[in-house]
Amino acid sequence: MTTSEVIADLVIHGGTIVSPDAEYQASVAIKDGMILAIGKRQAMPQASDYLDATGLHILPGAIDVHVHFRDPGYPQKEDFASGTAAAAFGGVTTVFDMPNTLPAISDAKSLREKHEIASTKAHVDYGLYAVLGEESLTNIGELIDGGIIGFKCYMGNTFGRIPSPTTGAMLELFEIVAPTGKRISLHAETNSIMERREARLRRMGRTDPLAHLAARPAVVAVEAVERAATLAEWTGARIHILHISSTAELRPLADAKDRGVDITGETCPQYLLLSADDYEAKRGVIRVNPPVREAENNDPIWQALVDGTIDMIATDHAPHSIEEKTREDIWTVDCGFPGVETQMPLMLTEIARRGASLSDYVRWSAESPAKRWGLFPRKGALMVGSDADIAIVDTNLTWTIDDALTQSTARISPWHGMEATALPIHTIVRGKFAMKDRKLQEDARGWGRSVHDIQVMPPAEVRNSDQTMEAVTSARRSATT
Ligand code: DOR
Ligand code: ZN
Repeated sequence: MTTSEVIADLVIHGGTIVSPDAEYQASVAIKDGMILAIGKRQAMPQASDYLDATGLHILPGAIDVHVHFRDPGYPQKEDFASGTAAAAFGGVTTVFDMPNTLPAISDAKSLREKHEIASTKAHVDYGLYAVLGEESLTNIGELIDGGIIGFKCYMGNTFGRIPSPTTGAMLELFEIVAPTGKRISLHAETNSIMERREARLRRMGRTDPLAHLAARPAVVAVEAVERAATLAEWTGARIHILHISSTAELRPLADAKDRGVDITGETCPQYLLLSADDYEAKRGVIRVNPPVREAENNDPIWQALVDGTIDMIATDHAPHSIEEKTREDIWTVDCGFPGVETQMPLMLTEIARRGASLSDYVRWSAESPAKRWGLFPRKGALMVGSDADIAIVDTNLTWTIDDALTQSTARISPWHGMEATALPIHTIVRGKFAMKDRKLQEDARGWGRSVHDIQVMPPAEVRNSDQTMEAVTSARRSATT
């Protein structure tokens, strides 16, 4: 061999590559964390390491745009090491972490501290969200400079009790974020509706699990989606609707898309695979915001993924301890449950059951989130030059989910006991194994990097900038009126 011949770091051979539109047999060569070549085995360069993926599928690692890793603040629930280990075991190579930690991420200092934690502990790549609320209104610039993937706006209260901005504050916040091009992810549940209903139900003495659903009917979400879309349309801000849980939200989502609003939506396995029928057996374990709803919502949400109204799959991975999830009084049970580790197995199982394709899954789990957050094709694609973020999956292996065996610190979820027919066997992050043969690779701890500095969002399309709070209150304007 001549010295000019390329030596790859790793060649994966024998597997079936899944792209957004096809499945094909090919080998993959990786060098310096990136995909160097894809093609016939004979065409691959020499490599210092080889992996036989015969019988396995090779997918772009999933990008989960919605996880809560609780670090800093709640180590009994999860930290960045256990959360990203769970991601690696789930075939997830990039996560976007939510800002409802302690402290919440709403200024440069808290953001810097979280970056320090994440960069020393993460097994997979990550983006960090910052709070978009009245408390961060004057900090937007420093938060963007500090390195964020986007903003999170809590229209409804949930774990961490981050105050919801009024509609007036939301408009001003959208006006400020719109020119930056950053996407605003919304917890779209209208606080005043659900707080009023919860108070009344509590006064009646209701403490049963279904009272949680009764406090938050779908209109709570519909009203919020509609209002957020109106503000996004007015300002030109980009928005993302988190955890779509009902059929009723699909209309305002689709209408806003038709009107040209830059709006995307995600749903999560719980809104496809669970229903109100599960509250009796699973009790507080199933408590999540927004709630798991009546079974008639499952099929339309699936259909919306298939037709593209909903853009992607995320998890809302929200770990809590066993004690926090098993309290008798439903109002005292912490909301949410883990999901980052089981999303891929559960969704691939559902895809097989419903006759969708692995390519559909790759679009929903990797390509679409990467495109919508300006990371494509570095992330979310298996292409020459892309980061070598890869999930190598056995799609023909039946196993039973066992909460006792998870990487996540939270050992309690509604997924316990469910059967899946797929399992990630190896997970590679920028060329390095984070999980190999179902074993965590300890040397991958701290390998994960923030993806904010590779994010390239399209230019912002600001609207009504002459009527913003800033414009109408500027010194020049007030001096002439
Ligand atoms: O149920 C939930 N739990 N919904 C959220 O939006 C937040 C999450 C959490 O952080 O626990
Ligand atoms: Zn969440």
